[in-house]
Amino acid sequence: MSCGTVDPGCRKCRLSKNRTKVVPGVGPCSAKIVFVGEAPGKDEDLKGQPFVGRAGMILDDALEAAGVSRERVRITNLVKCRPPKNRRPRKDEISTCTSLYLDRELQEIAPDVVCALGQTVAKHFLGDSKNMSEMVGKETRIVIAGKPTRFIVSYHPAACLYQRKNLSKFKTSIKFALAAANIV
Ligand code: URA
Repeated sequence: MSCGTVDPGCRKCRLSKNRTKVVPGVGPCSAKIVFVGEAPGKDEDLKGQPFVGRAGMILDDALEAAGVSRERVRITNLVKCRPPKNRRPRKDEISTCTSLYLDRELQEIAPDVVCALGQTVAKHFLGDSKNMSEMVGKETRIVIAGKPTRFIVSYHPAACLYQRKNLSKFKTSIKFALAAANIV
């Protein structure tokens, strides 16, 4: 079974102008948990795979520390093309891309848990009104294809690149999300 297919020649938004490769999600279509990042960075843009640069190493470490291999989880992004200079994706880019790709990817996988990596992703699902400290480590529900789905907000792994003190908080929030999916 395939899931989360993305048109490699997609030109539906301005992010397509500067990208090298479109970056589809990776991981089993039967995954119980989907980690959703913000957007591909430089390494991801070159390889066409999500979280393969420095932020990806931090995510891999957190998964490994919890005893879960990357192959057991689905890893994807809100938008599938790298924004210029790694700026945040804009609202119109997010809505164009998610309505074409992420929404369908989540419906096809129908996971038990969705874990948002960082504020941009959390706000896409929960709305703009809440701030990060109110959302991290708490469980809410979203509905995917009619199914109530556990929704957990984690820090973004890149937040640990410059502030190592965030690392243990990040690992804790990843473990919390994996426990909600009953895989640790
Ligand atoms: N940061 C993200 O949000 N996604 C990636 O794929 C890489 C870095």
